[in-house]
Amino acid sequence: MKVLVVGSGGREHAICWKLAQSPHVEELYCAPGNGGIAEVARCVPIAATDVQAVTAWAGEQKMDFVVVAPDDPLALGMVDALEAAGIPAFGPRQNAAMIEASKIFSKDLMAKYHIPTAAYRSFTDREQALAYVAEQGAPIVVKADGLALGKGVIVAQSVEEAQQTVRDMMDGGRFGAAGAKVVVEECMTGPEVTVLAFCDGEHLVCMPSSQDHKRAFDGNRGPNTGGMGAISPSPYYTPEIARRCMEEIFQPTVAALRSEGRPFQGVIYFGLMLTPGGPRVVEYNARFGDPECQAVLSLLDSDLMEIFLACREGRLDTLDIRWKGGAACCLVLASGGYPGPYVKGLPITGLKQAEETAVVFHAGTKRGEDGGVRTNGGRVLGVTALGENLERAIDGAYAAAAHISFQDMHFRRDIGRI
Ligand code: AMP
Ligand code: GLY
Repeated sequence: MKVLVVGSGGREHAICWKLAQSPHVEELYCAPGNGGIAEVARCVPIAATDVQAVTAWAGEQKMDFVVVAPDDPLALGMVDALEAAGIPAFGPRQNAAMIEASKIFSKDLMAKYHIPTAAYRSFTDREQALAYVAEQGAPIVVKADGLALGKGVIVAQSVEEAQQTVRDMMDGGRFGAAGAKVVVEECMTGPEVTVLAFCDGEHLVCMPSSQDHKRAFDGNRGPNTGGMGAISPSPYYTPEIARRCMEEIFQPTVAALRSEGRPFQGVIYFGLMLTPGGPRVVEYNARFGDPECQAVLSLLDSDLMEIFLACREGRLDTLDIRWKGGAACCLVLASGGYPGPYVKGLPITGLKQAEETAVVFHAGTKRGEDGGVRTNGGRVLGVTALGENLERAIDGAYAAAAHISFQDMHFRRDIGRI
């Protein structure tokens, strides 16, 4: 098969790395890809958000299958466009990708189907939102309705901070259209766990649980990022909690989307909080998480292409998906300054040595004219190691990362230890 993966980050490198191992995949392409993806796939210089150009290229080049990995093209309806052009694709259609693209949609869906989540109200009117915040008191959480690069959520410790956030979002400035509507919700407490699941519209198969580390600095301090590292499985996710989540959250969500006429095919991301009152949904995403994907797919023993095909063809229940035992840790090496402004184009050294004991997924890299690898983004690399247990996997990732350097490189020292 000729397969195209859409996207350019560490997640897409992990997907390409795994697909390249499949006997079904004869030719692998990635749009636009990056410096590491170029080692396993042919990179095509088309932006991941350019629905028309990706669809046209996939048609002209006779792709047999397209994997749409990032949130933006899913929300823009890339899967619908590919299907309309007769090209099978992996990922939810636009009407199902809404569970990520609109927080109000996902909260209303959970309320309608009694899926446990934080109590909330949604607002299109600024004054009503401000009054509700004052009435509820702090701590309280304010979320922009639309996609905001993971930056549209504020956990406010005071009413003033929450009200200022409401003003910032609804006055149009910082979040544009994504902030015109907001959700104000109850602040939950407890460990956070991610569960990714393959879904064929009707059946779902959970992957091993994982945990992201969203803040930039050690001790969960500093600004939010796309994710500074992930471990899998999460030590908090016991078999008993898994059973409850399946019954109270996962199956009801898939059934809800189906009965709303929005069957979900693709990877559904359950962002969970294990509160004293039981597991509850923090957020849904309509795709693999990044960097959770790098850790979780490293543990997959089965053929990823076969799983994608089974999701597409509605026969996920017939597959026996196998996972390696043990654990995985993905440590993100970021550019100095990230998630703020940073310099690009810095030479990276030590990749070969690191790759002797770990898999290094590239997130923001490109090949220089000399063939060397240079930084080209905020999150640069995801050093991913396996181990017989979490401790070994974490040590392995840090030991491998110690070989790598570039100017002003920064990373967290406490991935999997907090
Ligand atoms: P989200 O983009 O919805 O995942 O939110 C980003 C982060 O904000 C989450 O990973 C949580 O740490 C935090 N958060 C979101 N909603 C809540 C909530 N209702 N209570 C407490 N923390 C939350
Ligand atoms: N790692 C969180 C996300 O991909 O949304």
